[in-house]
Amino acid sequence: KSIADLGNLAGTRVLVRCDLNVPLDDSGAITDDGRIRASVPTLTRLREAGARVVVMAHLGRPKGTVNPKYSLAPAAARLGELLGAEVRLAEDVVGESARQVVAGLGDGDVAMLENVRYEPGEESKDEAERTALARRYAEFGDVFVSDGFGVVHRKQASVFDVARLLPNAAGGLVEAEVEVLRRLTTEPARPYAVVLGGAKVSDKLAVIENLLTTADTLLVGGGMVFTFLAAQGHPVGKSLLEEDQVETVRGYLAEAERTGKQIVLPTDIVVAPEFKADSPATVVAADAIPDEQLGLDIGPDSAAAFAAAISSSRTVFWNGPMGVAEWDAFAGGTRAVARALTQVDGLSVVGGGDSAAAVRALGFGDDEFGHISTGGGASLEYLEGKQLPGLDVLEG
Ligand code: 3PG
Repeated sequence: KSIADLGNLAGTRVLVRCDLNVPLDDSGAITDDGRIRASVPTLTRLREAGARVVVMAHLGRPKGTVNPKYSLAPAAARLGELLGAEVRLAEDVVGESARQVVAGLGDGDVAMLENVRYEPGEESKDEAERTALARRYAEFGDVFVSDGFGVVHRKQASVFDVARLLPNAAGGLVEAEVEVLRRLTTEPARPYAVVLGGAKVSDKLAVIENLLTTADTLLVGGGMVFTFLAAQGHPVGKSLLEEDQVETVRGYLAEAERTGKQIVLPTDIVVAPEFKADSPATVVAADAIPDEQLGLDIGPDSAAAFAAAISSSRTVFWNGPMGVAEWDAFAGGTRAVARALTQVDGLSVVGGGDSAAAVRALGFGDDEFGHISTGGGASLEYLEGKQLPGLDVLEG
């Protein structure tokens, strides 16, 4: 169901799950507000319909305890700026302050509960505990709108259990995200290339397995590439290596060979002696990383080869930076991949908070890509073909 199916919302209390899990710097300032901006259209629509909007969201992983470091205050303030309206943040999640803030809402107003992960029940494995908390959330709304695409893979009280207690609908962001990912999984225009980066291959095993059946080409960079290079028998020096995954990766390389899929690995690597922004960078062959060096980016030849493969594809999905993109000396690979994605004649999708933040920090505009997904884990799990609890629970 869509928001339109919820009928006349004037005066109705609408409980909305958003994903406002944005990166903060050491001073608590938001460094990338993409997820907050992405939540604005649905909230604006609800306000314009005269709804009394109650936003639920999390920030970081406070693990069931109240910790001011994870307060939603910066997100509430930024959301208020973007909406051009005050967003009153409750001091608690389901306590007296939340009750008062919700009770004080007028038509078109927006309130926000504090970080739902302050409550131990939110992420509990015990369904009864989650349901008990979800009942308290449900007291704050007449209907529930699920618009936090980045958390739909989590079976948590504010994502899953609350939807079982109230009439509900998917918000516009969730609908748009699902539509794009559906296009990637259902007859993508070919060639279909996937670019995978990020630190750990162990986080992406299931998606790699699935992509080896749906995509034509898999381009691998980021920290995970060293486990691939090790699987080919190359030395990786002090680079990040997941020894326990080498055998699995060897299996992927053999599988690709057998099925005619291409797994493209870098041929050169930017290395440095230390994991530091100003550590002296040099470029070495990917099959000869010296013992005392660690790889921090794909090299310029690889960046050019990756860019050529990307820009000649009709469908491209990208998740994970190619190197330590926040340090200029090691941002070249990520920059080249981002630029190539902007040149795709077809559908280009940037998935995941880290990749999205990286491309914005490098100066690319959101509108240069086909779609920037707000979901990291969620979009990967969708591509794995997994059932996503936060989507499955919604009324059809
Ligand atoms: C994300 O950052 O991908 C989402 O907000 C989910 O956060 P989580 O991985 O802590 O559940």
